[in-house]
Amino acid sequence: MNPFHDAIRALVTSALGLPADTVVAIATPPNPAMGDYTVAMFPFAKALGAKPPELAQRVTAAFAAGGALSSVTAAGPFVNVRISRPAFFAHVLGLVGAGRDSWGGNADGAGKTVVIDYSSPNISKHLAYHHIRSTMIGHSLCRIYAANGWKTVGLNFLGDWGTTHGMLLAAWERWGAGIDLAEDGVAKLNALYVQFRAAMKEDATLEPLARTWFKRLEDGDAGARDLWERFRQVSLAEFEKVYSKLGVAFDAVRGESYYEGKMQPVIDDLAAKGLLVESEGARVVDLTDRKLPPCILVKSDGATIYATRDLASATDRWDSWHFDRALYVVDKGQTVHFKQWFAVAEKAGWPFAGRMVHVQFGQVLFGGRKTSTRAGGAVLLHEVLDEAAKEIEAVIAEKNPSMTADKRSEVARQVGYGAIVYADLSKLRSGDVEFDWERLLSFEGDTGPFCQYQHARIASVVRKAGADLSLADASLLGTEEEWRTALLVADFPQKVRDACAKDEPSIVATYALDLCRAFSSWYAQGSKDAALKVNCDDAPTANARLALASAVRQTLANALFLIGLAAPEEM
Ligand code: ARG
Repeated sequence: MNPFHDAIRALVTSALGLPADTVVAIATPPNPAMGDYTVAMFPFAKALGAKPPELAQRVTAAFAAGGALSSVTAAGPFVNVRISRPAFFAHVLGLVGAGRDSWGGNADGAGKTVVIDYSSPNISKHLAYHHIRSTMIGHSLCRIYAANGWKTVGLNFLGDWGTTHGMLLAAWERWGAGIDLAEDGVAKLNALYVQFRAAMKEDATLEPLARTWFKRLEDGDAGARDLWERFRQVSLAEFEKVYSKLGVAFDAVRGESYYEGKMQPVIDDLAAKGLLVESEGARVVDLTDRKLPPCILVKSDGATIYATRDLASATDRWDSWHFDRALYVVDKGQTVHFKQWFAVAEKAGWPFAGRMVHVQFGQVLFGGRKTSTRAGGAVLLHEVLDEAAKEIEAVIAEKNPSMTADKRSEVARQVGYGAIVYADLSKLRSGDVEFDWERLLSFEGDTGPFCQYQHARIASVVRKAGADLSLADASLLGTEEEWRTALLVADFPQKVRDACAKDEPSIVATYALDLCRAFSSWYAQGSKDAALKVNCDDAPTANARLALASAVRQTLANALFLIGLAAPEEM
């Protein structure tokens, strides 16, 4: 795929007399003065019965100049390689030019299907700020898997079943008269729920009442069903507002309620396999051998629980899509739950056991300035998004007064939402993320606005130059800054692979930032020395540089797409 990597691999394997398909790890040296790439000889020492420095000497001795590589030197146990710059620049321009929107992707996952369970909020509650994590990590993983050739099924497993919905129905019976759900319905439902929970502490009749209501719901009582369906629709409509802002669309919305009639066969199968045991009136699968608490499937009152629905849901997903992998993008707090029911699937010997992955993430911590509005103690996601867009709009109005009001509000939404999303996706998902207004909205530093601004800047330079870049002569490229930028562009396909292999959108987010930093320092040179400007006076050189800048722009646009950010043409 990368002819320069291929040339290095061929040199090493032939010099050492190894099979051509031997794995040769090609790394970037810590200091660019050492070379463009480096290969450590340690992995080959044992099989070849020679010391690594000696192997490095052998590789160096076998090198003949010409072709893709320009020099090869031994440094102790390492072989440092320089590649032919003119050949590499030409390669990079060709790569990006040919691929465009699909550049960076691959077909590794061809024929494979991944089901991605993400967002999956509970109904009758707001989408709180922390919901951005599952929503955007999942959304990004859908795009990353698709870029790796997988068929993806994005699924919203709404929390729309269980005893809490009985409480809500009971609360509605008590206090619902006269409440208009057409406006701010979710806020009103949430308030009812909170009120009910508080009242439950004082009034012992409420809990049985809630249970009765849930039983009615389960038994298909028309009144209970209609009401519940209304709550569900009100919630979905509000979630949809946030999803459309973020560009999120699901292939299927199958809430927990969808699996209601599908749980019994699962319970029967586990019983037939002798896996269900009685424990204090409940029916559970014992997981002592896995050092896990027992997985409850049916409570002593006969009700099923979350784990029962997850087991039924996995079975249904298998029947629907025969997935090769199923990802559950859910916070770390639910680790035990997933371990438990994954273990149950294994014990039952279900054909899809072992294909599920809990893609976990840490919490959101609120640092810096807090948002002004809170409902029920939660910071609402749609308010954070709107506020970010508003603040960015003010910045753009100042920086770019000639932009029309319509355009400005469109770009402000892209950049404001982008700032929030980037802050969420730029850190390793398993850690906590700090929410810090001042930092995430900044046009400098490791932020979404910085990356999007670099994109707009390149687009504007190229637009203003108006040159035909198809004729660019790559041999006119050669400064150190151009070189470093080109090397990074060529890394993109590997980053797309790594992000998929590790279920880690932050690999793409960090990459986009590195690329922007490289371009930004290349671009900055031009303000010190006119000869180094991207759009310099010498037209053929300017063309070559603009072509490289365009390659950066396209790569950046593709990377931003993978993490769910728009790439504005102007800002
Ligand atoms: N509704 C759950 C919650 O809000 C998340 C569901 C995650 N997906 C799953 N298949 N369990 O905590």
